Amino acid sequence: MLFEGLELVSALATLAACLVSVTLLLAVSQQLWQLRWAATRDKSCKLPIPKGSMGFPLIGETGHWLLQVLSKVFSHEALQSYLPKIQLVIQDTLRAWSSHPEAINVYQETQKLTFRMAIRVLLGFSIPEEDLGHLFEVYQQFVENVFSLPVDLPFTGYRRGIQARQILQKGLEKAIREKLQCTQGKDYSDALDILIESSKEHGKEMTMQELKDGTLELIFAAYATTASASTSLIMQLLKHPAVLEKLREELRAQGILHSGGCPCEGTLRLDTLSGLHYLDCVIKEVMRLFTPISGGYRTVLQTFELDGFQIPKGWSVMYSIRDTHDTAPVFKDVNVFDPDRFGQARSEDKDGRFHYLPFGGGVRTCLGKHLAKLFLKVLAVELASTSRFELATRTFPRITLVPVLHPVDGLSVKFFGLDSNQNKILPETEAMLSATV
Ligand code: HEM
Repeated sequence: MLFEGLELVSALATLAACLVSVTLLLAVSQQLWQLRWAATRDKSCKLPIPKGSMGFPLIGETGHWLLQVLSKVFSHEALQSYLPKIQLVIQDTLRAWSSHPEAINVYQETQKLTFRMAIRVLLGFSIPEEDLGHLFEVYQQFVENVFSLPVDLPFTGYRRGIQARQILQKGLEKAIREKLQCTQGKDYSDALDILIESSKEHGKEMTMQELKDGTLELIFAAYATTASASTSLIMQLLKHPAVLEKLREELRAQGILHSGGCPCEGTLRLDTLSGLHYLDCVIKEVMRLFTPISGGYRTVLQTFELDGFQIPKGWSVMYSIRDTHDTAPVFKDVNVFDPDRFGQARSEDKDGRFHYLPFGGGVRTCLGKHLAKLFLKVLAVELASTSRFELATRTFPRITLVPVLHPVDGLSVKFFGLDSNQNKILPETEAMLSATV
């Protein structure tokens, strides 16, 4: 009897050991895959990496011509036409946050906000709110599995990612078809309109597959990065009330902040925003100290030497944005949040081209950087002029850097409107948005 018991224990122990080994093996291969992904992001790689515009296995291949076309999507005129819609989406969201009886998880909510901005404003889809919520959940499943080991077996992250991509592409195809049929009542050209028009000018009519890939890539590039920066912005305004007050003073001086908040729906203009110099410094400092993306990848086109080391042609190299910001000699007291370092008196970013690069640099610099900065500025203006907000935890959370920088608990904050109207969701906002997109 005792012998049988021992056998059973030994069998269970072997089973447990096998399970632990398999789990460890999977974890190690996952890590190796991520490392390989990082090292082989360029498309000249000989290893059998699945094709992807950014080297991500689950994102479709995007031609170089598309990148040229995309630059039109972020022109000055295009940004001016997106601005009122961005302001409406942000105002609507802040009202919803303020009317929420509990504290909200800022990182989760800013992810929803940037997704909504990408779908409604950038792509101009008039998807009903309920379907948008469902699409967001599927999108999250897609993003969670973007880094998975490319083994297409049941129950793997890769399979879940593929399934999520299929659902997303189906949803996007439906929205694109509806949009192509219904062009009436629109008062601006969104990114998708520009994409379609410009591709025709380049003598290349985009196929439905290219349109779906292009839209998915835009959402992917815009979503997590802008949510990360928005969360960092809110956290820094909470940590530094003097900065928030100085920002409010600037808005007051420019006639944007009125007593009782800013009742002006969708009235900001690009030139008004460019005149707000302190706001620009605040956004720059958030992006310096809390850069959402750690770095970028390049292929060496010509052998070169750096600090006595020879880097051969054909190698993949990574440049670190975060380390650059941490070690650049131009920044005094690098760990201190100090927006005035970018003010006229000091202009710490003016010396040298490559000390400050939250959006990368060179020919593959971020295409959406002006849109991202515009979004962050409008968010800051709306926060400063219409909201009061308090940290709902005793201390500020720790920051983690993967997959993009964000607070570990997401940042718990209670929002209140500055006047009684700010706690109401206005039905007109939804009506205005859906009338125009
Ligand atoms: C705060 C927000 C954002 C940050 C920090 C950010 C940062 C970056 C970085 C570091 C890169 C890689 C550059 C390199 O390889 O050197 C990049 C690429 C890119 N970003 Fe952004 N980004 C942001 C928002 C956006 C938005 C809103 C869009 C568009 C809707 C966008 C579109 C793109 C695209 C299309 C690329 C690929 C460019 C290429 O491969 O040539 N980004 N971004």
